[in-house]
Amino acid sequence: MCGIMGYVGHREAAPLLFQGLKRLEYRGYDSAGIASFTNGHIAIRRTVGKLANLDQLLQAEPLPGSVGIGHTRWATHGPPSEENAHPHRAGDVVVIHNGIIENYLELRHELMDKGRTFSSETDTEVIAHLIDQYLQEGRSFAEATQAALRHLSGSFALVALSERDPGTLLTAKNATPIVIGLGEEESFVASDIPALLDYTRRVLFLDDGEMAEVSRRGVSISDFSGRPIEREPRHITWDPITAQKSGYKHFLLKEIHEQPQAIIDTMRSRILEESGEIALGELTDRLPVLDTVKRATLVACGTAWHACLVGKFLLEELAGLPTEVDYGSEFRYRPTRLDTDSLVLAVSQSGETADTLAALAGGRDKGASTLAICNVVDSSIARKSDMVVYTHAGPEISVASTKAFTTQLTALYLLAVHLGQRRGVLDRDHGRQLIEDIVTLPALVQAILKKTKAIEKIAKKYGHASDFLYLGRGINYPIALEGALKLKELSYIHAEGYPAGEMKHGPIALIDEQMPVVVLLPKDPVYEKTLSNMKEVEARGGRIIALTDAPSPELEEIAWEIIQVPTTNHLVMPILLSIPLQLLAYHVAVYRGTDVDQPRNLAKSVTVE
Ligand code: G6P
Repeated sequence: MCGIMGYVGHREAAPLLFQGLKRLEYRGYDSAGIASFTNGHIAIRRTVGKLANLDQLLQAEPLPGSVGIGHTRWATHGPPSEENAHPHRAGDVVVIHNGIIENYLELRHELMDKGRTFSSETDTEVIAHLIDQYLQEGRSFAEATQAALRHLSGSFALVALSERDPGTLLTAKNATPIVIGLGEEESFVASDIPALLDYTRRVLFLDDGEMAEVSRRGVSISDFSGRPIEREPRHITWDPITAQKSGYKHFLLKEIHEQPQAIIDTMRSRILEESGEIALGELTDRLPVLDTVKRATLVACGTAWHACLVGKFLLEELAGLPTEVDYGSEFRYRPTRLDTDSLVLAVSQSGETADTLAALAGGRDKGASTLAICNVVDSSIARKSDMVVYTHAGPEISVASTKAFTTQLTALYLLAVHLGQRRGVLDRDHGRQLIEDIVTLPALVQAILKKTKAIEKIAKKYGHASDFLYLGRGINYPIALEGALKLKELSYIHAEGYPAGEMKHGPIALIDEQMPVVVLLPKDPVYEKTLSNMKEVEARGGRIIALTDAPSPELEEIAWEIIQVPTTNHLVMPILLSIPLQLLAYHVAVYRGTDVDQPRNLAKSVTVE
């Protein structure tokens, strides 16, 4: 939440920072601001609302200079307003911040007792005051920042500028991400890689408890006591083009259409078709643990949590591994019975979600082995896990998750087959068949994407409804949840996902002639049961939109709409069924005129609990 960006070099800072913030706007868009060194002093421009407002302000009042910082905000402390917009200034110091300073009230009172006055309600402003306080006491900018950092508790990724030290950005982090980009005679700081891709692929990731002094000559990293830390830069392979819209009207639509390729990329080099095996090279060192763990707990938030619910079916059926699923925010605060026979598997697109990260750390502290399925290389969750399986979805910019979800499902499937083979649950022929099923999947996804016009028609017909119900059973129940979530996030229509068999215990009361009910009805072992539930909906006048691979005259009688998907193995079906639900939510959102890529109140990377 909140995107931060810093630059020091030979280019004009403000336009570059603005471009970087555009790539980070998915992290929050309540207000935005830029600070830049102009004629030896730091000048600030801030506006409420999206970056477009800041753009107008910068055109009216430009900010020359080649050292600066920028911020796009997702409000936590203090409502969206110009006073609460970052950057925040105190004396000679200007700060931008992502995260939550948990002891900010205590610090604020201490600083007020020293005669300091505050101009915002934010927790961030205390950081600027604290650094400035130490500066005024005679310390250097770096020493003052280190002293301030030692007082902060909570989560923070921050960048500070000081009028005492015009060529230096100081950046530090605890529990939220910071990536530093290295260029020729220029350096960059950002919350996330896409902001840097137009300028460099050589990056350094800061770890928790680390600070960096960043200048055009390079970077030096230390801990908060000033002890130097050596770190080798990493090379990022993401292509800058994949972080742009490439002719699509929205990032979301582009990302929906990228799914066949993203799934191929996630499978690439992991499938040994000749031997009928899955190779997850990244697990090699720890394989003995995976052979012997007795139970798994899958933890995640949001869409990734839905992937975990599907993962439970896969791991239990294919790998014989008893599995439970929990939200990161619940798991971290409940008593859990974990030991060295347990595996905690965290699933996260960003690898930075605070609750998922804490759940993983809690599992590790209790002796469990830890594994992550992550999209962002070297993200906090990836680094804190014993083992990682990366999804190769590429950058996902739209706030609502699509290709990250289907690649998480792909990775979970590969993992389950791999463990099933290793643990002797799957015989060779069954394993080979399962592999064939996933290899043919991208072509089937492509076939569904061709139905976008038909789905758009359905969206226009039902897009005025105020409520939607989504029903599914078994491994497709989580897909009903995900379909409902996508609709809520994108169109602001109230939607509920429910297990089809549970409907009669409550949600059936909601059904009337106005209610669209999306039913997931693949020809799987529970087909007949779901069909009966569908008839219960029909009897109450609900307008059924059925997704099935087995249309029939009987179904045509009952359903108002039928979206046909190709037939495949029932364990792969959740991936296929996700696609029309994404398209439906997208087209409903476009029909209702909502902000598809940046829905209200949401943020892509939730680095606060
Ligand atoms: C936010 C995003 C969701 C995402 C969730 C978990 O709520 O809006 O799309 O599913 O965080 O994010 P993660 O990066 O851990 O997958």
